[in-house]
Amino acid sequence: MIELSLVGIGSGNPEHLTLQAVRALNEADLILIPEKGAAKDELAQIRREICRNVLTDDTPIVGFTLPVRDEKITDYDARVNDWHDRIAVVWKQAIETHLPESGTVAFLVWGDPSLYDSTLRIAGRVKSKMSLDIKVIPGITSIQTLTAAHAMPVNTINGPFTVTTGRRLRDEGMPAGMDKVVVMLDGECSFTKLNPEGLYIHWTAYAGMQGEISLSGPLSQMTDVIIETRKAARKERGWIMDIYMLSTGDHLLA
Ligand SMILES: C[S@@+](CC[C@H](N)C(=O)[O-])C[C@H]1O[C@@H](n2cnc3c(N)ncnc32)[C@H](O)[C@@H]1O
Repeated sequence: MIELSLVGIGSGNPEHLTLQAVRALNEADLILIPEKGAAKDELAQIRREICRNVLTDDTPIVGFTLPVRDEKITDYDARVNDWHDRIAVVWKQAIETHLPESGTVAFLVWGDPSLYDSTLRIAGRVKSKMSLDIKVIPGITSIQTLTAAHAMPVNTINGPFTVTTGRRLRDEGMPAGMDKVVVMLDGECSFTKLNPEGLYIHWTAYAGMQGEISLSGPLSQMTDVIIETRKAARKERGWIMDIYMLSTGDHLLA
């Protein structure tokens, strides 16, 4: 029997690792790390640094190359499903090659595995093809690193909030009835598509990591600043990960 341990490692700061995560990594017989691409190189390095910091044994750490999305598949869901299918094949091969009998294989998952992350869906696919016990260790999400960076709560008193993607914000605008919206996975500054009146933005890139950049203010005043800052940071580092919250009303009282 193989146990698959999906370890949330937090959002890029090695100090985000929980004691539970440290224990899970030390209990693993094999650690698999995805590699490739400019961002993924730095992210893979962070994963390796985390392993160096916490492993007390010489647990084998094996890098594997992630397949890329097939851009010829035009339908978004079909493209992602096809991609997950192919990643599951690679995972299965890597597990069978490096842990042929039984034992625990750990994957270091950015942030928390439950939040805009495919790991659990891919693990489900692998489980449908081999005997597997899936265990999740929760991690600090990028939402928490954003709210920490700005020292702000994620909700108003007794209020709901929405977490959505840049693509949906671009296509659908601000979710109705929400006074706080967290936006992730936005490669194209989708806040530029909104009427900025009455909106406030808290934006952070590389949250919790070295070189963290945070900006906030009325959206009408911050749009160009964020676009320029984002462009420059991306050029300098070769990749960017950013997250932001849009708030309506009086943000100071919210
Ligand atoms: C594929 S999702 C993974 C989210 C992750 N599972 C979590 O718990 O935060 C990647 C998105 O998370 C956000 N993100 C993750 N880490 C971040 C960081 N350190 N700084 C800013 N945004 C981050 C960005 O919006 C990025 O596009």
